[in-house]
Amino acid sequence: MSNYYIKNLEEYFQIYRKSVREPENFWEEIAEEHFVWRKRWTNVMRWDFSKPEVAWFENAKLNITENCIDRHLHIRGDKTAILFEPNDPAEKAQHISYNQLHERVCKMANVLKEKGVEKGDRVCIYLPMIPELAISVLACARIGAIHSVVFAGFSSLALATRINDCDCKMVITSDGSYRGTKTIDLKGIVDQSLETCPGIKSVLVVKRTGASIVMEKGRDQWLQPLLDKASSKNKAEIMDAEDPLFILYTSGSTGKPKGMVHSSAGYMVFTAYTFKNIFNYQEDDVYWCTADIGWITGHSYIVYGPLANGATTVMFEGIPTYPDHGRFWEVVEKHKVTQFYTAPTAIRALAKENLSFVDKYDLSSLKVLGTVGEPINEEAWHWYNNNIGKNKSPIVDTWWQTETGGIMISPIPFVTPTTPTFATLPFIGVQLALMDERGQELMGKQVEGRLCIKYPWPSMARTIWGDHKRYYDTYFSAFENMYFTGDGAKRDAVGYYRITGRVDDVIIVSGHNLGTAPIEDAINEHPAVAESAIVGFPHDVKGNALYGFVILKEIGESRKPENLRKEINQQITEHIGPIAKLDKIQFVPGLPKTRSGKIMRRILRKIASKETDNLGDISTLLNPEVVKAIIKDAL
Ligand code: PRX
Repeated sequence: MSNYYIKNLEEYFQIYRKSVREPENFWEEIAEEHFVWRKRWTNVMRWDFSKPEVAWFENAKLNITENCIDRHLHIRGDKTAILFEPNDPAEKAQHISYNQLHERVCKMANVLKEKGVEKGDRVCIYLPMIPELAISVLACARIGAIHSVVFAGFSSLALATRINDCDCKMVITSDGSYRGTKTIDLKGIVDQSLETCPGIKSVLVVKRTGASIVMEKGRDQWLQPLLDKASSKNKAEIMDAEDPLFILYTSGSTGKPKGMVHSSAGYMVFTAYTFKNIFNYQEDDVYWCTADIGWITGHSYIVYGPLANGATTVMFEGIPTYPDHGRFWEVVEKHKVTQFYTAPTAIRALAKENLSFVDKYDLSSLKVLGTVGEPINEEAWHWYNNNIGKNKSPIVDTWWQTETGGIMISPIPFVTPTTPTFATLPFIGVQLALMDERGQELMGKQVEGRLCIKYPWPSMARTIWGDHKRYYDTYFSAFENMYFTGDGAKRDAVGYYRITGRVDDVIIVSGHNLGTAPIEDAINEHPAVAESAIVGFPHDVKGNALYGFVILKEIGESRKPENLRKEINQQITEHIGPIAKLDKIQFVPGLPKTRSGKIMRRILRKIASKETDNLGDISTLLNPEVVKAIIKDAL
């Protein structure tokens, strides 16, 4: 069909081959054709994974907001850029046109400047899914400030860690947020955080719920009166291609969260190009990604990728189950959504409900469906395909990471034949490798190994904020000259990739990346806890749920287990947030350890998954007897 950018599989392979054989020519053409630059690059790319150092479009000058907003004004100024659908269906949706978005971003940029925010400063954004979130992100980018969005479900301690790690100067938040029937006191959480964040000079507060909050004099101000006074003209700051655009934290398998730093030009080029091709976005389409802008999916595929293409992008404040399980489909019908991009966990949760929640609505506008964040199981894939896509909308199962900035493995809709549970083929320009444990690349088809990427792509993270060594150690030290993803994958007989899951200590729960270490640290701070180990186990809605094995100190032994369990989860909620709560907590006399003292999580994973028939050789453990005791009381 004529309006597909990549028309058939042959053309995909042709473009792919070019992108791999001549990556510089390939990306240069894309950059020239699709974007506006203040100054052209002098060199398309430079790389050295041993450092690691990567630069794209060197010495080019640009502002990403001119690409996402200004250049659309004369051709589609009145087109809806952001379509805001509130939590409560009774509240009216807002259609924010490109002209209005321009005005609102410029005003916000001027407010930030007036408050002393300068190019290179870090601004923490802790907001619900309301238009001001996208506007704040874009306003930071407009003045060259580095935004650090923290998902508004994180606790005050987690927020404080993230504010302090990158030395933010300002927080933008709201009086509260809506979640179904509940309201959450966001400002109260910020106030608590700021007790330990001396670097924060100002807090701007969006009025959303109207809850009564405390405003600290000299520090906190309502945003609206400042916007009312601000000029709607703002000249975008001219940025270098490699200037950091944002920091986004992701959990690691050890220690504190990693502030992944993304660049300006490479990130823009790759997110825009992937968006257009993977969702096959056409001018009158209404695209909806249900993620939160607090995660990378929202950064790349609610804000930057869609807006760089002049798209209409839906921002949804609510949850899939309020006022009932038909909410997603109601919104699809109401706004005639054409592309719908969500997480397998949401699909699994909705698939449990009666089909009448789906059948009530006209979903005929849908053209392309997508999934992201975790492997999708076959059953959920078929439910999505049959009931939402009516067997006519291709499902793009997109594999990527906070670190990759954009989609790396995905079908091209209407082009790549899909197979349930397979993310299929590498996206254009992406060079994958599967490695065995000895560091050899597995060649050919039908192999399984550790998923690596052997050549830079424009939107890869450039470093971890303040810790370049950790960036190297985490991603580039396992295999020489390769970026190691932390995932395992299979390549089948036709060359399709299927992600098998994490091979490190990161657990994906409901599509959220959770490191075991920070959760264990939180548990271990409980006065009754001596030691703990967390593993994932299969869960029919969340994909994985968390199982904690906890050794108590003597003071814990005398207390009621139910109370302790509650307190431990409370402790986790305070340190990280409710997303990291444990589904099961087993009190154990000891943890299986190697002779060097390392916890054997492999064994704990098997116990948690009730697969204790074949535990392998446990005789080399320091304390093999403990395994029996744990199995006996397993939950
Ligand atoms: O394990 C993979 C899983 O999510 C991890 C990345 O998580 P995060 O940085 O939070 O980014 C999520 C949104 C891009 C990956 O290492 N993952 C992501 N997408 C898929 C997936 N696993 C299987 N299939 C996917 N489509």
